Amino acid sequence: MQRIETDVVIVGAGASGLTAATELVKAGRDVVVLEARDRVGGRLWTGDVDGAMLEIGGQWVSPDQDALIETLDELGLETYERYREGRNVYIAEDGERRLFEGEIFPVPAQTEGEIVGLIEKLDQLVAEIDPEAPWAHPRAKELDEISFAEWLGTQTDDEEAKLNIGMFIAGAMLTKPTHAFSALQALLMAASAGSFSNLVDADFILDKRVVGGLQQVPIRLAERLGDAVKLGQPVRTIRWNPEAPEAGVTVISDELEVHAQQVVLALAPILYDRISYEPPLPRLQHQMHQHVSMGFVIKVHAVYETPFWREQGLSGTAFSPYELSHEAYDNTNHGDTRGTLVGFVSDEAADEVFRLSAEERRERILESLSHYYGEQAKHPVVYYESDWGSEEWTRGAYAASFDMGGLARYGADLRTPVGPIRFACSDMAGKGYQHVDGAIRMGRLVASQALEALEARGALA
Ligand code: FDA
Repeated sequence: MQRIETDVVIVGAGASGLTAATELVKAGRDVVVLEARDRVGGRLWTGDVDGAMLEIGGQWVSPDQDALIETLDELGLETYERYREGRNVYIAEDGERRLFEGEIFPVPAQTEGEIVGLIEKLDQLVAEIDPEAPWAHPRAKELDEISFAEWLGTQTDDEEAKLNIGMFIAGAMLTKPTHAFSALQALLMAASAGSFSNLVDADFILDKRVVGGLQQVPIRLAERLGDAVKLGQPVRTIRWNPEAPEAGVTVISDELEVHAQQVVLALAPILYDRISYEPPLPRLQHQMHQHVSMGFVIKVHAVYETPFWREQGLSGTAFSPYELSHEAYDNTNHGDTRGTLVGFVSDEAADEVFRLSAEERRERILESLSHYYGEQAKHPVVYYESDWGSEEWTRGAYAASFDMGGLARYGADLRTPVGPIRFACSDMAGKGYQHVDGAIRMGRLVASQALEALEARGALA
């Protein structure tokens, strides 16, 4: 067992952990980053699959994500717009394929009215929510005790309106069924992106991508940190002495024992219990962490010789709450002559197709894409399903959220440090919640708090 001495040890080399490490190094502190996997990036991962460059994890950048945009600028990374020229596709309950432009789906006039009304209502409520403290809303408890499905039912009887509005938060964001999360959780999701209207606007929320893939962010941050980043080091134990906090903390992986003044856990909260804490975490943390769970979605990549849908005047943007793949987009890489579609199969639909064989699943998913784009969609040259549910060090996608009632009950405590242990992750961000922008914000915040603690200790010493 090799022993290392440092100021702050960071567990997890995702966007959050590497941002925290970068900020601490900028302030002149020593850091060690321990990463379980044999690569950096966590939920950011650009893979080469049968000769196709695929962004297996997070990829899109929206214009409000200023922490991410600043980081991209600082790292000299270029962005490009998602292809969006032409008409979008919507598939109705009876399977009719309808082409449309703009954000409002081509649904019967009455349903359209209900959808517009719900968006206005949600925008009003979202404007009352502080994404940094949704639990502080005067009706937080009440809104956290009603599922988003039930809340939608109190607003309208129009099934198609409920399904579509539900889809923007459920299938498209939290990747849990609308009955499994609260109205307050839904409002946080929208507030973290500025408004509910922003979530409905695909051109806003899925605006740009990074040339070479968004994993460039953690890769470049890690390059700058050099030897401080240690791969293949799953942290097993964190030990400290509450009687003598000035003695610091020891963080132990299979090969390394790192002694530091502070430790930052920069991993999804659902993974905290993979680590043994000596002494155990307080009762509040033991309870609270059991009320956070990961969403679940399959990101499907289908690469074709050409972006054939563009020739049909289609943008590639497609939605249907009745389809297995509830949303799909043109995901062609910058400068690529081949065309790529990306589709998403969320929560209960993902459970269902994972019960099938790989061949049957592929067939079902491509069948769904063909409803949007025609028969040609059934014959990609490269096909790949991002399966984060099988990843030991993530266990779901896109991110973690509180179960019913958990946000009002525990939300305010999720970031609270325990002795020398601090927490940072996109899944506890306010602005940029569940996104890379939020991961960067939490990395910055925790670095500044760790610095303050180090300075206070220095002043005492
Ligand atoms: P992250 O999970 O990335 O990093 C945690 C790290 O800790 C991992 O590297 C893990 O291996 C490591 N770790 C865990 N346990 C450990 C242990 N015991 N010891 C050592 N290391 C340990 N966002 C966005 O902005 N735009 C988008 O388009 C998308 N789309 C998207 C698609 C898919 C399929 C996914 C899965 C996710 C997205 N996201 C996204 C979300 C985004 O990717 C995510 O919010 C951030 O990358 C999370 O960064 P963190 O650093 O917070 O956690």
